[in-house]
This record gives sequence, structure tokens and C-alpha cells, in this order.
Amino acid sequence: MGSGASLVPMISKETIDKILDTAQIEDVVGDFVALRRRGANYMACCPFHNEKTPSFSVSPSKGIFKCFGCGKAGNSVNFIMEHEQLGYVDALKYLGRKYSIDVTDKEESPQDAENRLRSESLMAVTQFASEFYANSLWNTDQGISVGLGYFRERGFDDELIKKFMLGWAPSGRDSMSRAALKAGYKREFLIAAGLSIERDNDKELVDRFYERVMFPVHTISGRVIAFGGRTLKAEKTVAKYINSPESEIYIKSRTLYGIYFAKSSITKRQKCYLVEGYTDVISFHKAGVENVVASSGTSLTTEQIRLIKRFTPEVTILYDGDAAGIKASLRGIDMLLEEGLRIKVVLFPDGEDPDSFARKNTPEELRKFLDESEEDFIAFKTRLLTAETKRDPIQRARLIQEVVASIAVIPDAINRAVYIEECSLRLNISEEILSQEVKKLRRKKQYGAYSGDAPATPEPGAPLYFPVLETGERLPQFITNTYCEPAEKELLYYLIKFGEHPLYGADEENPGSVTVSQFILTELSNDDLELQNLVYKSIFDEYYIIKERSQEEIQKYFMNHPNREFVNVVLDLLHQEHNLTIKQFVAEIPPEEQHLSITVPKSILIYKAKITSIAYQGLCKDLSQADKDNDESRKNELMEQLQILMHIRNSFSKELKRLTI
Ligand code: CTP
Ligand code: MN
Repeated sequence: MGSGASLVPMISKETIDKILDTAQIEDVVGDFVALRRRGANYMACCPFHNEKTPSFSVSPSKGIFKCFGCGKAGNSVNFIMEHEQLGYVDALKYLGRKYSIDVTDKEESPQDAENRLRSESLMAVTQFASEFYANSLWNTDQGISVGLGYFRERGFDDELIKKFMLGWAPSGRDSMSRAALKAGYKREFLIAAGLSIERDNDKELVDRFYERVMFPVHTISGRVIAFGGRTLKAEKTVAKYINSPESEIYIKSRTLYGIYFAKSSITKRQKCYLVEGYTDVISFHKAGVENVVASSGTSLTTEQIRLIKRFTPEVTILYDGDAAGIKASLRGIDMLLEEGLRIKVVLFPDGEDPDSFARKNTPEELRKFLDESEEDFIAFKTRLLTAETKRDPIQRARLIQEVVASIAVIPDAINRAVYIEECSLRLNISEEILSQEVKKLRRKKQYGAYSGDAPATPEPGAPLYFPVLETGERLPQFITNTYCEPAEKELLYYLIKFGEHPLYGADEENPGSVTVSQFILTELSNDDLELQNLVYKSIFDEYYIIKERSQEEIQKYFMNHPNREFVNVVLDLLHQEHNLTIKQFVAEIPPEEQHLSITVPKSILIYKAKITSIAYQGLCKDLSQADKDNDESRKNELMEQLQILMHIRNSFSKELKRLTI
């Protein structure tokens, strides 16, 4: 969740007001969503959850959007923050760019300013290069006959070529560098962006890319930061692909090729396909499968995984049929499981990769193939390894350890239990033994909050391991975030008012114990919960950025915040009488800070109980639908889920009863 190292740079209040006044909500949202007028408002299908009938409403007079389905709501800045996954300041900058309002950070250190200007310069020259390559593809003889000819032969139509901003780097050794210098770009930036190279003998600038078709690499918000260039020559002496080197703007471990073009589809379909390279991504788009990204050669990093996780918890990895590397990559995938992702695998027929398969088959056939051959990762791994172990007992033991290792990293206890049950059948080994092995490994690696022997003071940024709610219940992953404003507001209340107070009171026995803010953050992250009210969420995230201050300073910070909505919410929390739900349980007994160890866990429990009960109602509805449809397997699945929820509900209410002052 939103903890970050640096302080939030400030933008002057005048500038913010100007942006808020200029950025009409319908205009901002309209860039991403097809709005239909309905009376004074607009309606659309919500871009933040999957729906068929519109429940997303935009009110120009109030300047806000609100989804009655998923509960997301806020002003134009919040919309951009959520939709483009930007921070507050970056969202303002985005709107500043859109409306040509100059947004300059004030109180930025000279070093910050220099870095920012430098990145901007690198991006500017990279953008120039991308336009240069596109122009030479479409408007030069060589570009048209060689570059464009190649793309078309590969089955990319013009629309697709334009969408991905593909280009042609001409055969001259310094065409691009010369054009850039002539247009006024500095050689220092051309070199730093990896586009030009200084020749050793005469210090002349030459192009890194020449005589290649060019694939620009975009950031999540669509800015070009790097290139891949493919030669069209068959000679073995020429490298098939040349890629931009890393630079201040291009950090490979944080980049996923195609994420900009995929993000809305990933959100809608709640799944992300992972492929190997540029051509796979583009061919899939051609076939209408747009929720696809490539890790470009390297194995996935945690940062890339978190990028995907902003949009969906489900990743399907597509393997070439003849990839000898599958086995080598298995361990790396545990890292994905560890992040709480659901992983599936599709194995392409021998000799085919995603690109070639997509080209040889119709879009319908591709979709059908993807749907039908998708297999759960742990089942896939078990099957793959079983095939080679035969009856050798030593190999078999190793196989079991391998599978146990994958299960042990899964954060969700219920999911682990399901896998243990399944693998017990598959491997013909008792559930007890598997489950013991998993426990052993988890204890060893100190996964999760209940490992017992956790470190007392976690490193900054490391997951926190102190004891949390006593039920130990974790919400299962089929529960998605649900909107329950009063419960969210209450959590925010405890955060703003008492965040830096020790949860259990500080006495000699408990010096420096867990603070309220640490407790709340751990509880929510353990269940992957995020506040759904976007204003609350922004305040919540920003709290954890600035929290190295005293409670009083934090409150002052928010009360003087440039975002007026923040000010209003915080003032409201601090000074108005609230109908906090907790007070229905606790007769008001001041002073409040003496009871934080009860009231805070209680309000978390109420929050989670509320989410559980909304999910429960949803499942009941689905169940009666499945019953009408006579869909037995869906019915069974739903009943199982209902049982899990019932169990969780019971243990929540038991703990709620226990927590009294
Ligand atoms: N790739 C790369 N560097 C290489 C080889 C491949 O970055 N030296 C990446 C590219 O992103 C490429 C993907 O891996 O799109 C697939 O590789 P490959 O099939 O060899 O490239 P194609 O351009 O599809 O070549 P071909 O037409 O021979 O299939
Ligand atoms: Mn290929």
C-alpha cells in the first residue's frame, strides 16, 4: 500500500485551484469512457469494474464521478489517479498538461528539480526519436518498401502499426542523431537516453539503431522511454534484436512492454497474459486479445508483478511449446504466488509461440485455445514433474518438496488448504503430511503474521509481522473490495486522530509497541484491502508517506493541504460528532486513547465483517441464479464459497463479542 520514501512535492494552491476549475469532470472522464447523457448527468459502464449495465455516473454540476456498483467516487484528480494509477501530484501534472496549465513544484530541492528536468529532457528526446522513426517508416522510400513492407507481411495492419507507433531506423549511420541535433536536442541527452553513441576515434555521434524496424516501449501512462530494434537481415552475425540500454527513464525491472495498451483490458477482463516479446503482444492485439504484456526476455521482477497487481490478481503465463526454459522458470513463479497472484499456465503446441499461433489461427480459435488449455500453475508444475519422476523414490521426494515450496508461499490460508487437498490426490500422499511440510516451510521462512518466531522490529518497508486480529481469519481471494463508506470513514478517523499512538498503550512493559497506523496498514494489506472511497484512499496513502511526524503535525499537514477535499474530510473527522459505528458497541467512555487496543481492532473487524456480509449477499444472489440456470458445478463452487464466508463471519462475530471494554 501507499508508503513511499519521499515527501510529497507541493504544488501551489493557486495552480491546484486553476486545474480543478479548468478540468471539467465530463471532459476528463470522457477521454477514457464513452459517456451517455442522462438528464443533467452522464452515465457509462464503470471503467473500474466489469459490468454490463451502466452504474457509473458523472455529475458536471458537482464535478464528481461515482459508481453505484463498486462505490468508487471522487473528483477529476481522483479519477486520473485511479484510472492512470498516478499519485496526487502526478495526476495534477497530467491535468496540467491536458489543459496547458504550468505545474511547477514548489519547495522542490535543486537536486529534485535537476533530476526531473533531466528525465523530462530524456523523455523529450526519446519522443523525438520515436516520431523520427515513425516518420521514416511512413514517409521515406526505404521505410515504406523495407520497414512497412516487413510489418505488413507479418500481418500487422496499418492501424496496428500506428497504435504501437512502430517505426523504421534508416540505414544511414547517424540520420536520427543528426536530425535531433538539428532540432535542438542536446547531445548529452541523446547519449544518456541510449539513442546515440559517441564514436571513439572522432567523437562523432552515431545512431544506436540503424536499418532496423523499431518497437517503442511505453510507460504505463504512455510515454516512450526506450526502443527495441529488429534487424531484417538473416545473417547470424547481426544481432536480431537490439534494445535500449537502461537509463534514468528506462529501468527494465520496472517496465512491462505493452502495459499502456493493455491496462484497461486487464482491468475489464481481470486477467493478464504474460508473453515473451514485442511480436507476441502485437499479434495478440491483432487477434483482439489486448490484456497482454511482455517481460522482454528477463524473468519477472517483483516490481513488474506489482505493476500487474494494480489491475488484476490473475496472471496467465504463455509458454512456447518447445521452451526448454519452462523447468528453469518454475521456481521464479513462486515469487508470483508469494505476491498473492493467481497463476495459470498455457502451453502452446510444439514449435509454436504465442505470435505464430495467433497468426495461424482465427481470433476465435485463439480465444478458445487460451480458454481451454489454461491450467492452474501448481497443477501444471505437479504434472510436469510427475512425468519425469516415474517411480524413483528420491526424485519423488524432491518433487513433493518442489510442490510444497510453491504452496507454502501462497499468502492466503484458504487457498493453501485447497491446493494441499488437490495435490494430496494428485500425488497420492496424505493431506496431513503435505500440510505439515507446508507449515514447516512457512515457519522457516516466516511467511505471514502467524509464524510465531517473527522479528520484533521489522526493517522499514518490510512486511510487518506482529500479532494481529486474534481470529487469524484472512478474507478469501474471491472476495473483492467492497464499498462501505461508514466503516472506511471510521478507520480513517482512528488513523488521523490516533495513528501514531501505541495500540496497546505505552508503559514500561510495552515500550514502542505497535502503533495504530501500523496495525491498520498490516490488517488491510494482509487481506489486500484498499479503501474504495477515493478521497479517503488518497488521504490514507498520503498518511503513510508523511507519517514520520507527530500526530499533531500530521493533522496540521492535512488541515493545510492544498487539496480542499482532504481538508474538509479531515476537519469533519476531527471536529464533528460522528455516528461512528463503533460507538454503537461502546458506550462513550472517554478518554478514547485508553481503549485503542479494543476500538481499533473492533473497527477493523466491523469493516471486514461488512465486506464479508456484502460478499455473502452477492454469493446468495449468484447461487439462486445458478440454481435457475441448473448449473450444478457453479452451484457447488458457490456453496463452498458460502461455507467459507459463513465460517469467517462466525469467527468475526465471536471476536467482536470478546472485544469489550
Ligand atoms: N527477443 C529479444 N531479443 C532477442 C530475441 C528475441 O528481445 N535477441 C524478444 C523480442 O521481443 C521478440 C520475442 O523475443 O519479439 C520473440 O523472439 P523471436 O520469435 O525470435 O522474434 P521475432 O521477431 O518474432 O522473429 P521471428 O519472425 O523469427 O519469429
Ligand atoms: Mn517469433
